[in-house]
Amino acid sequence: MNIIVTGGLGFIGSTFIKKAIKNKNINIFNIDKKTYASFDHNKKLIKISSYKFYKIDISNYLKLKNIISKIKPDYIINFAAETHVDRSIVDPSVFIKSNIIGTFNILKSIKNLNLIKKTKFVQISTDEVFGSTKSKKTFNENSKYTPNSPYSASKASADHLVRSFNKTYNLKTIIVHPSNNFGPFQYLEKLIPVIVTCCINKKRIPIYGRGKQVRDWLFVEDTADAIYKIIQNGKVGENYNITTRNLLPNIKLVKMICTIYDKITNSNQNSFKLVKFVKDRPGHDFKYNISNKKIIDQLGWKFKKNFKQKLKITVNWYIQNYKKK
Ligand SMILES: NC(=O)c1ccc[n+]([C@@H]2O[C@H](COP(=O)([O-])OP(=O)(O)OC[C@H]3O[C@@H](n4cnc5c(N)ncnc54)[C@H](O)[C@@H]3O)[C@@H](O)[C@H]2O)c1
Repeated sequence: MNIIVTGGLGFIGSTFIKKAIKNKNINIFNIDKKTYASFDHNKKLIKISSYKFYKIDISNYLKLKNIISKIKPDYIINFAAETHVDRSIVDPSVFIKSNIIGTFNILKSIKNLNLIKKTKFVQISTDEVFGSTKSKKTFNENSKYTPNSPYSASKASADHLVRSFNKTYNLKTIIVHPSNNFGPFQYLEKLIPVIVTCCINKKRIPIYGRGKQVRDWLFVEDTADAIYKIIQNGKVGENYNITTRNLLPNIKLVKMICTIYDKITNSNQNSFKLVKFVKDRPGHDFKYNISNKKIIDQLGWKFKKNFKQKLKITVNWYIQNYKKK
């Protein structure tokens, strides 16, 4: 089976590749633009004969179409995207180009190359497309889209295009909505790496507002595992949420990480004292709250409920791999 993974030098895409490549029947073709958020996973992967890398920007239609026409893949899984909400607030332009135009180019390539019957397309969306909530009620796969940041709006737009290509041209599409991911190899600008690296450098830990916003933390290997399950058993034309339901206010998460950090490093620095509340992000979503009923009930997805252990693995990875600045 030939799988094109876009954005496979990023945090989640690379984790998925490392899992999928273990299956001897799968060939991986990684297409990535190599932005600031990429990590050079190629160093290890390139030695594997069932892995190939192409440095291509998915917003370049001709280059993209050309490579898709050579591979004629069974699957295209689109992880490629600009992903940092704060950057999308400063300048959304590249989010429109990569996340919307890029996704459109993949869909258009499948259609124009007459691969509609052969190639299945999996869009990696986000829980953020459903917007924020203050209630206990969870969003399911049919909940209405109410994106609030330029990032989530770009992801929502891409999802609408994917849906339209399924309804209009019968493209075999699946959309997945993972919640906030954490784990090794996440780029340093995201919340958990920021907290750990501030502990390492004994720097103030900047927390928006009073840290009351709630996020739903999902270990990256669980995400990779769920996407693998969706490829095996997911139904074309469907959407699937991915979450292990670890909802926490940001300040509680910081407290947990600081405690883990102090314990692992045998430090008495009381890292939680480093917290500094800063002006809240404009349009900051209060809480994401998606349900995982569908993926569990319909696809039989299972995961280990050891959030603390997964957090320890992550904190330890940054301690081992991040160099002090
Ligand atoms: N990280 C999360 O918490 C999270 C949660 C839900 C959904 N998602 C979605 O999952 C996907 C992967 O997220 P991530 O955290 O691994 O992102 P990331 O920022 O770590 O990696 C993104 C990768 O995509 C590549 N890329 C960006 N624009 C490209 C383009 N135009 N052409 C080709 N490659 C391009 C980058 O070079 C990078 O390697 C994204 O679509 C994101 O929206 C992420």
